[in-house]
Amino acid sequence: MIFKNLRLHIDIGDKLFNTLYPLSIQRLSEHHWTSVEVAQISADYLVHKPNCKVLDIGSGVGKFCLIGATSTKGHFYGVEQRERLIKLSQKIAKTHKVNNVTFIHSNITEVSFSDYDAFYFYNPFYENIDHSFLIDNKVVLDEKLYTTYSEYVANQLKNTAIGTKLVTYWSTWVEIPEGFDLEFTAYNGKLNFWKKKF
Ligand SMILES: C[S@@+](CC[C@H](N)C(=O)[O-])C[C@H]1O[C@@H](n2cnc3c(N)ncnc32)[C@H](O)[C@@H]1O
Repeated sequence: MIFKNLRLHIDIGDKLFNTLYPLSIQRLSEHHWTSVEVAQISADYLVHKPNCKVLDIGSGVGKFCLIGATSTKGHFYGVEQRERLIKLSQKIAKTHKVNNVTFIHSNITEVSFSDYDAFYFYNPFYENIDHSFLIDNKVVLDEKLYTTYSEYVANQLKNTAIGTKLVTYWSTWVEIPEGFDLEFTAYNGKLNFWKKKF
């Protein structure tokens, strides 16, 4: 029912979508996973051409990708460093026959952005500088990694094609290189829509 309604563009609440996940994952939703509404608005903006390839930088439990893939015609790719979250995302995609989504277990520093047309960035590296609501203790966290990862993303975005689209959510903008223009903003400035102009 959840994916059927998403495919038909019938509104579903965030609470209902979260029932796809175990309780321990549902509890993390408020601090770590994109809401259904933000995912739909962002995916609509990012999918700007046929067969558009959208990369979610740090895909968590796959919420953004699963919603984007179901409500648009893009292909969504999620890269995530925590293997158990990738396995959970893959299981949900398989069970609900969401075919236009691919989940990759990797660190973002292993990924070349030249393979994608659009990017979603929900403040993935913040866990390295604020430990208040940790997902788990399975990865090494270090303040320096915040800078290393942000610089990697900035460098990769610098080399993307003109017309590349980017959505940032709760970002400090350190990862956005020159050349990306802010086209719209929403959610009191927390959700931002960027397009590469040069
Ligand atoms: C705030 S959550 C967002 C999840 C998802 N994008 C969403 O919107 O629902 C950020 C995720 O990024 C992942 N992450 C952080 N640093 C990463 C890195 N260097 N490479 C891959 N994933 C990373 C974390 O494990 C976490 O699951």
